[in-house]
Amino acid sequence: MEVHNVEIVMSAVSPSQYPTDGQPEFALVGRSNVGKSSLTNTLINRKGLARTSSQPGKTQTLNFYHVEETFYFVDVPGYGYAKVSKKKREAFGQMIETYISTRKQLRGVIALVDARHAPSQEDVMMYQWLDYYNIPILVVATKSDKIARGKFNQAESIIKKALEFNPENSTFQFFSSQTKAGKDEVWQWIESHM
Ligand code: GTP
Ligand code: MG
Repeated sequence: MEVHNVEIVMSAVSPSQYPTDGQPEFALVGRSNVGKSSLTNTLINRKGLARTSSQPGKTQTLNFYHVEETFYFVDVPGYGYAKVSKKKREAFGQMIETYISTRKQLRGVIALVDARHAPSQEDVMMYQWLDYYNIPILVVATKSDKIARGKFNQAESIIKKALEFNPENSTFQFFSSQTKAGKDEVWQWIESHM
């Protein structure tokens, strides 16, 4: 998709603030710092629309990006950031859980993991939880520019094995917001789930 028009619609902390037009939504989940905001910016060809940061835990609300007036990207707060207070973490967790398990407009979730490492325990929990709800999942292994050519197969196997990857509802894709590798494939997945 060639994106011309993107608007940040809202930063929502509660369901009453979610969009009401019923258009499809795709959520991005993953550990803090894994590259969710960078992926959003790469897909929509904007450098700084979704705030990226070397400081983890920056995104703390559900941010809805309205794309071409046809669907929404939902940038979800990153999990696993220890410096956010426990109370705040629990509140985020609740918000994400409620959103993902009840949202009718949600067509799929893009679950980001770091291509360089085995998934964390939280990555595994998140994936298995999404799988349990039978939500279409695109597992995106980010920062693929940081792994050697010859290591791609091995990295993919490690990630799939740890997640107990379910090919019935899940697709796997390497991605780099630096080289834009995987961008077309991510768009194809989104368009095929619209
Ligand atoms: P939170 O909002 O805290 O949950 O983080 P996030 O998942 O949105 O991560 P963000 O996109 O802000 O990226 C975190 C850091 O990783 C930034 O310094 C990015 O520049 C870097 N980064 C993101 N994607 C890539 C990538 O594909 N390759 C490389 N080399 N760095 C990346
Ligand atoms: Mg972010």
